[in-house]
Amino acid sequence: MEHEAQFVRKFTNFRINMGVEMVRLLAVSGSLRQASSNSILLRAAERLCPEGVLLIHYEGIDKLPHFNPDLLENPPEAVAELCSIVGQADGLLISCPEYARGIPGSFKNMLDWLVSSEEFPGKPVALFNASPRASHAQAALRLVLETMSARIIEEASITVNLLSSRLSAESITADPVLGPVIGTALGAFKHRLENQHL
Ligand SMILES: Cc1cc2nc3c(=O)[nH]c(=O)nc-3n(C[C@H](O)[C@H](O)[C@H](O)COP(=O)(O)O)c2cc1C
Repeated sequence: MEHEAQFVRKFTNFRINMGVEMVRLLAVSGSLRQASSNSILLRAAERLCPEGVLLIHYEGIDKLPHFNPDLLENPPEAVAELCSIVGQADGLLISCPEYARGIPGSFKNMLDWLVSSEEFPGKPVALFNASPRASHAQAALRLVLETMSARIIEEASITVNLLSSRLSAESITADPVLGPVIGTALGAFKHRLENQHL
């Protein structure tokens, strides 16, 4: 698929152009909303990545079919692409909103496809959260991710308040409080990914 091809090209080009191993992060927003605060937070993270980190956004959640275990033996193309992209990432950066005190259905659907994949277990995950109110969804997400054998990296997981802020990725990046909070979390994530024994 074109999205995967672009993703692979970007990773490969970086390796060739810079001649060094990059830490590869896959950012996934749990919101499909155009002006999503969670997606904007991840866009700001892209701008604030430390040197040596490549962040790519996965934007295929709404292309995934409804999860059906019967399809696992011969997974649909969008699912195979998802697993491949997750497999190529050193770590996942997730930012997910709360809907009705839970995880949004479309995002949970993506996780369900990954539950029995070879690529997901042991994957390091940083949890970003754009709303201090979203405590139920965060707790549910942690439980699901732990059940899926993710490694949640606490020092890279942050909650910021973007509710009703209408801030752009650019202004978040330049914000004297938000910018350093996000940058520090990404630095901590990079450190853990480069030192997997920690
Ligand atoms: C259907 C729906 C249900 C929601 N339920 C909750 C909720 O239970 N708790 C909460 O804190 N916010 C709730 N919200 C508010 C969203 O979490 C909030 O608007 C958030 O900014 C959405 O994330 P986004 O900006 O990334 O799209 C709900 C919003 C929608 C549309």
